[in-house]
Amino acid sequence: MSSVIVRPALPTDEKHLWAMLFEASYSADQGRTSPDELRAIPALAHYVENWGVPGDLGVIAELNGELRGAAWLRLFTGDNAAYGYIDDDTPELAIGVVPGARGTGVGTLLMERLLVDARAAFKQVSLSVREENPARRLYERLGFVEISDSAHPSPTGSTSRTMLLRF
Ligand SMILES: CC(C)(COP(=O)(O)OP(=O)(O)OC[C@H]1O[C@@H](n2cnc3c(N)ncnc32)[C@H](O)[C@@H]1OP(=O)(O)O)[C@@H](O)C(=O)NCCC(=O)NCCS
Repeated sequence: MSSVIVRPALPTDEKHLWAMLFEASYSADQGRTSPDELRAIPALAHYVENWGVPGDLGVIAELNGELRGAAWLRLFTGDNAAYGYIDDDTPELAIGVVPGARGTGVGTLLMERLLVDARAAFKQVSLSVREENPARRLYERLGFVEISDSAHPSPTGSTSRTMLLRF
């Protein structure tokens, strides 16, 4: 029986990251129909565009060569801050799993693998998560802690919080 494999995200995987950014940003709920639409939304596009620049780190989950999910992180700057920006040395993590594979452990596998790699390169990692997202439990299990007073508008118009994992 085949099982999901997790491998590094290469520059050639950028299309996979656009697809998973579509999931991570709940774009379908906002009426978007294609990951290509995200390229015109700077606040989302900067998580993925030109994937493979220094500091980028990511992992891809596949089953029989088909995309199941991705988790990745990238450094941002104060004048190009992402939703969960802390400082220029703290990368922000994003994750998405294809709808049909959720709740089967793929996200946990991706996070565990990415955080092993991140620990070797960074002192800490941040992320932004909607208040109502059950993924908060996953992040807490892995050691992320919510930053107080970090409430900010999410891409969907609800409220998100910033979480931080210190290695
Ligand atoms: C969040 C997500 C990446 C987790 O991946 P997954 O493969 O479903 O995760 P796992 O099966 O390893 O389960 C771990 C946790 O994921 C969350 N989760 C599970 N199924 C989920 C679903 N259908 N939707 C949202 N979160 C789910 C839960 O917090 C779960 O922890 P729990 O066991 O305490 O409930 C995935 O569900 C997803 O892509 N959701 C939509 C996009 C998203 O929310 N991205 C994160 C934005 S911050």
